[in-house]
Amino acid sequence: MMQEYLTHPIFHILAEIAEENNIETYVIGGYVRDLLLHRPSQDIDIVVQGNGIALAEATAQKLGHLKVSVFKNFGTAMFRYKGTEIEFVGARKESYRSDSRKPLVEAGTIDDDQKRRDFTINALAISLNKRDYGRLVDPFKGLQHLQERLIKTPLEPGITFSDDPLRMMRAIRFATQLNFKIEENTFKAIRANKDRLTIISTERIMDEFNKIMLSPEPSRGIFLLEETGLLEMFFPELTALKGVEIIDGIGHKDNFYHTMAVLDTVALYSNDLWLRWAALLHDIAKPVTKKFIKGQGWTFYGHNHIGERMVAKIFNRLKLPQNEKMKYVQKLVNLHMRPIVLSEEIVTDSAVRRLLFDTGNDIDDLMTLAEADITSKNEEKVKRFLKNFKIVRRKLKEVEEKDSIRNFQPPISGEEIMETFHLSPCRLIGDIKNAIKEAILDGIIPNKDEEARAYMFKIAAELMKDKETNG
Ligand code: CTP
Repeated sequence: MMQEYLTHPIFHILAEIAEENNIETYVIGGYVRDLLLHRPSQDIDIVVQGNGIALAEATAQKLGHLKVSVFKNFGTAMFRYKGTEIEFVGARKESYRSDSRKPLVEAGTIDDDQKRRDFTINALAISLNKRDYGRLVDPFKGLQHLQERLIKTPLEPGITFSDDPLRMMRAIRFATQLNFKIEENTFKAIRANKDRLTIISTERIMDEFNKIMLSPEPSRGIFLLEETGLLEMFFPELTALKGVEIIDGIGHKDNFYHTMAVLDTVALYSNDLWLRWAALLHDIAKPVTKKFIKGQGWTFYGHNHIGERMVAKIFNRLKLPQNEKMKYVQKLVNLHMRPIVLSEEIVTDSAVRRLLFDTGNDIDDLMTLAEADITSKNEEKVKRFLKNFKIVRRKLKEVEEKDSIRNFQPPISGEEIMETFHLSPCRLIGDIKNAIKEAILDGIIPNKDEEARAYMFKIAAELMKDKETNG
């Protein structure tokens, strides 16, 4: 019996009203699954054998005239109570389709309804009826599968997946989020039905994909997407990273495995979806820039710049935000090698200052990405890099404390330059401003007004003299 799990106050109220109206009522789906897994529970889904909308309205009335949203076409109704969304639906025979425009509600029993759900662990229900309040209704061994950590469809998987092909993505998403295995037949059916993903909207696919990205170990899901053939369907740029080519006995690393390692490492340090996306796409242009040059081996010249452009194309196609989130990912992809290049040389203050200037407030994220990017098998090399990274981080801190470059604002404005030298708008003003900025970044002068002003006089005199001599 599961009574002790039903701590939310709505359940007793519902049970009472169901009893008064003689309607069979159950709590079902993700809420029950998460209760049993001791995960924070989300919205509550209520299934009734009969009219779900009517039960929602009667309950909302009793709770003090709460506002009910009714979706007549779907036969569902919803209200918010104590911060939780409570959704009501009549049990149905037909397939469960959360986004279908067709009203396909053919009334059924709780058993019919459970059959039409995606996975056995999501088909669990708990009775809210007086005669057996708290009884777990588990016709498909959902509880056992929760214990075995298994994703399995309640019916023959081919049927469940053709009812809604998005469920193939959901299987992999749950396996990744919960660290579950996909049962063998279910897995095979995904492979067999992968082409059906084409009828699913990009937005819904990406919703699931982003949940995979936000999981503790996103690579698990992406490997599963790859193995089932789903990844190729919507993200061919990623599958293109796979494989190793060998010329003259020299191979390059498999960029798919490398990317997965970088993504998982970044995920250890950050829950930020977009930093994880930057990790996913940091080497995305390696396949298109790859060249074997005799004497040099494998090269990927410009893969960061081309990668930056590819980010925009990919975000556009995958209906991801076309805003500052995308610009952030582009920036990190473009700059991802800078900290490494820097740490390979003697770490000078001015190189650090320039990195800070180009990266601004995203510097910590860039450092996280760049450090995760070191996946060499050569332990000596890794040690050396990590040591140099420590130096870079320390210098970043020192330089920032001294010169505040992160949010660089030119200390001398264009107006001040024009007034000081009685100039009207011309190129010289930009040149003077730029020279001051360069001097600060090179550490010739500190990022302070007074020093910058003195430097302005000096540089203006030089530039004006140049102008005179050059005519
Ligand atoms: N469901 C389904 N097929 C789908 C989507 C949903 O059978 N394609 C059913 C499942 O029983 C699921 C329930 O509807 O448990 C609620 O769906 P949803 O809110 O999308 O997922 P949850 O299981 O609640 O999980 P999460 O909140 O993590 O998305």
